[in-house]
Amino acid sequence: MTITFHLNGEEVSLPDTEPTTTLLDWLRDDRGLTGTKEGCNEGDCGACTVMVTDQDGVRALNACILFLPQLQGKSIRTVEGAASPDGVMHPVQQAMVDQHGSQCGFCTPGFIMSMVTAHTNGATDHDDQLAGNLCRCTGYAPIIRAAEAAQAAPVPDWIAADRSFIFSEISRGEVADRGAEPPATAAAPSNTLRPTSSDALATAYAARPKATLIAGATDVGLWVTKQLRDLDDVIFLDGCTDLKQITVTDSEVHIGAMADMNRVREALAPLHPSYAEMIRRYASQQVRAAATIGGNIANGSPIGDNPPALIALRANLHLRKGEARRTLPLQDFFVDYGKQDRALGEFVEAVSFARQPDALRVYKLSKRFDQDISAVLGAFNVTVVNGSVTAAVIAFGGMAGIPKRAAHVEAALIGQPWTAATIQAAQAALDTDFTPMSDMRASASYRQETARNMLMRYFTDLNGAPAHVLEVSQ
Ligand SMILES: Cc1cc2nc3c(=O)[nH]c(=O)nc-3n(C[C@H](O)[C@H](O)[C@H](O)COP(=O)(O)OP(=O)(O)OC[C@H]3O[C@@H](n4cnc5c(N)ncnc54)[C@H](O)[C@@H]3O)c2cc1C
Ligand code: FES
Ligand code: FES
Repeated sequence: MTITFHLNGEEVSLPDTEPTTTLLDWLRDDRGLTGTKEGCNEGDCGACTVMVTDQDGVRALNACILFLPQLQGKSIRTVEGAASPDGVMHPVQQAMVDQHGSQCGFCTPGFIMSMVTAHTNGATDHDDQLAGNLCRCTGYAPIIRAAEAAQAAPVPDWIAADRSFIFSEISRGEVADRGAEPPATAAAPSNTLRPTSSDALATAYAARPKATLIAGATDVGLWVTKQLRDLDDVIFLDGCTDLKQITVTDSEVHIGAMADMNRVREALAPLHPSYAEMIRRYASQQVRAAATIGGNIANGSPIGDNPPALIALRANLHLRKGEARRTLPLQDFFVDYGKQDRALGEFVEAVSFARQPDALRVYKLSKRFDQDISAVLGAFNVTVVNGSVTAAVIAFGGMAGIPKRAAHVEAALIGQPWTAATIQAAQAALDTDFTPMSDMRASASYRQETARNMLMRYFTDLNGAPAHVLEVSQ
């Protein structure tokens, strides 16, 4: 498979690409561009951040868990391309110098590329934009000051030019044509494919049902970089633009499997702000820009952040195998730890839920505010009519081997008056619903107590006394 992209303003064509080569390894080992650093090699530290421009916009991504085929038809800018070709520093670089934003400098290229991306997008929520970049020695205050100092400067021409490459490629049809090509040359890996529609994906996957699907690669990337697994047959999903659609109608919200977490957050903010606020704490800007909702569901993790929230919204999952499609309640997809109701060759096409009045609250408990996996995530959706509970859907992550509804808690609420006494009675039912485990994130008893407290928090929240994690973190 030939991969073509723009790197720091120049076209690069790689005719013989090992599909699971990461951009970071290729930049450093093959291209000699060692400005992009390797810190953790698992998406956590941001030292490898690059800026990627495509038809969906401009994103900061971690090069360590980004495979070369995911770059097809895109523009990549590394720290070597932040300054102009004749050496004029980007405004954020100049500001980092002026504000003394760098000491040992190891983290600095990653920070610069996150800042260049935020600057290009006009984003000024600097704490959130930089939450995925770790610095051990400078401290964050000078870096934030640098981001603030540069924010009003115009986007330099050499950065803005990245978008024209993308659109000229698309208008010539080259991206789609190249992406749709089946593996061709003898030299190219014969098992790689990057379909450009869900129909093409359905055909490809039906023919090779044991292939590994790669969506955002924020899980699969680590199988390669940390578990050193050889993925001998892979299918990349990022060319399937129809799977990226998010549609909100009067009656339904329909989210394609390839919608990334930043876009999901944006779409849900006006509908279910608590869900969107939880996504703000889902990993980091770089990971959210890659991670897809389909990947977060399909991986079957008991601590994935989306499934409990979606279950609480009574979401349906849409699966497809070849031409056959089926829909099931999302909660039924998770059968047991490591086991999902998904056949060989079947993939997630979308998830959907009905429009509803917003009573959803999603509480994420993790050791850090940003960039941390949940110890417990509780999602609550209770309907109260005339002071009585008429319906309740409550789901937890981190409390069992799968994302799971608290059926006994729900039963203890329905039909009862919406009072503290009812909540206290329902809290006891959590012991019947869950027997959580102890692990490095939390002990079983802490999880159980936390879940009980979340239920009480929901009660006070719905009664007009919301508590926000930021208010208690000082
Ligand atoms: C630093 C870091 C922080 C993280 N923080 C969080 C966090 O806070 N909360 C959280 O929930 N997760 C977190 N994760 C985990 C990860 O981001 C999510 O699970 C993510 O949503 C996976 O999506 P993806 O598109 O990257 O999937 P991929 O890695 O591409 O794939 C994951 C799995 O799903 C399969 N798959 C992907 N798409 C489909 C499809 N359409 N149909 C069928 N199978 C499919 C793949 O074959 C693979 O088995 C974090 C990961 C990293 C690296
Ligand atoms: S090296 Fe740490 S995020 Fe990539
Ligand atoms: S300047 Fe040393 S790690 Fe940030």
